[in-house]
Amino acid sequence: MSFVLAIDQGTTSSRAIVFRSDISIAATAQAEFPQHFPASGWVEHEPEDIWTSTIATCREALKKAGVTAKDIAAIGITNQRETTVVWDRATGQAIHRAIVWQDRRTADICAKLKAEGHEPAITGKTGLIVDPYFSGTKVAWILDHVPGARERAERGELLFGTVDCYLLWRLTGGEAHATDATNASRTLLFNIHTGQWDDDLLKLLRVPRSMLPEVKDSSHHFGDTVPELFGGAIAISGIAGDQQAATIGQACFAPGMMKSTYGTGCFALLNTGATPVASKNKLLTTIAYQLKGQRTYALEGSIFVAGSAVQWLRDGLGIIRQASETGPLADKSDSMQSVYLVPAFVGLGAPYWNPRVRGALFGLTRNTGPAELAHAALESVCYQTFDLWAAMRADWPDAKAAHVVLRVDGGMTASDWTMQRLADLLDAPVDRPMIQETTALGAAYLAGLAAGVYPEPAKFADNWRLERRFKPAMSAATRERKLAGWARAVKGLLASDE
Ligand code: G3P
Repeated sequence: MSFVLAIDQGTTSSRAIVFRSDISIAATAQAEFPQHFPASGWVEHEPEDIWTSTIATCREALKKAGVTAKDIAAIGITNQRETTVVWDRATGQAIHRAIVWQDRRTADICAKLKAEGHEPAITGKTGLIVDPYFSGTKVAWILDHVPGARERAERGELLFGTVDCYLLWRLTGGEAHATDATNASRTLLFNIHTGQWDDDLLKLLRVPRSMLPEVKDSSHHFGDTVPELFGGAIAISGIAGDQQAATIGQACFAPGMMKSTYGTGCFALLNTGATPVASKNKLLTTIAYQLKGQRTYALEGSIFVAGSAVQWLRDGLGIIRQASETGPLADKSDSMQSVYLVPAFVGLGAPYWNPRVRGALFGLTRNTGPAELAHAALESVCYQTFDLWAAMRADWPDAKAAHVVLRVDGGMTASDWTMQRLADLLDAPVDRPMIQETTALGAAYLAGLAAGVYPEPAKFADNWRLERRFKPAMSAATRERKLAGWARAVKGLLASDE
């Protein structure tokens, strides 16, 4: 019983990783699933695809590791956050496709809430901005657009959940309708100061309380899988949203520690300890984790396009065949050109929060080619991280201390070119850990902690190992010139919306 199975249900793929008790990896499995884009700015997933790909990868990982259900001490779930599922309590059937976190269809609802002056109160309670990104307006949209849904919800027949909650419900055969505090903190319905669903917000967003899951600690026995799924029941003992799980996997347990994960988007979290810091620079205040009833908070900067800019180079423009070609191609770019990509493919997240604008390229010349576009795409991720970094330093004075380094993880961090450019533009060290599976590790840790396989946080943090530190090497003059060019590009794009 010394293995832990982590489920990492992400935006473009479902993954399962079997960890040993020494946190080494015994096996991994991954399956991509279809994305649906029914209208401009709309992104949906079929809940059944989320479910079947999750189960298939779990079974494959167990098989590859040569273990069975009885060898697994616990399952930890981590997930794409905010993505919203509404299903029938009796049949388990989803009543609509999952509305994905990137989906912008509720921009008008958000604009109305803002125009009516509700944002300060909402932000005060939830730590969030009024933006289509979060679950609350997505639930309301489903209830308003699926015939009969609102009446059924009022009668208590429908359930809402983020992806962790939906998976938990199905894994336990409908026994457990619960989530953890990190996922609840992304819904726009949850008061992060009291740790409770908020009746005023539920009323304002018109979401019936009976639809909501119970909110628990991130490390907690949520229930057991139905035995038929994996040939025996397995305890589900950890849940956290993927960015919070990565914060845990990166062992950012002390206030002032910061991580940035480069997946589809990029999400930087700065641990602020027991204090929820209110941002003056449009960052989010969110729950990093909740252990033994104690909430630890973070400031978060959320960028919607990071790895997906590289996907666009590959699938949209066809100028690379695989992501690993991007850094070497960018390296060949003409240093006399200053091409900026503002990758607002689904609007801009922190710190601009504009759901209406769309992406733009600036500084094109007759000589601009694939190398300059690759260069601009990779740099756009670094510039966006810089914007978050600057906002965090302004919001939390301790973050100005010289010792603050950024721990990075996610697919794009494999690119040395990008990580060096990131260190250069931040003018701060960037640390890449030995274990890159930090998101899954965080989920496994939470589950293993509850199951007695893994030690308390301080001890677990001793296992964190540096693979490489990228040190800033760019001249101040170059850095300032480049950052000024980026600021002009963003300003130009935002002006197009005025
Ligand atoms: O908030 C959205 C985030 O959780 C999605 O993460 O890794 O699926 O891009 P990822």
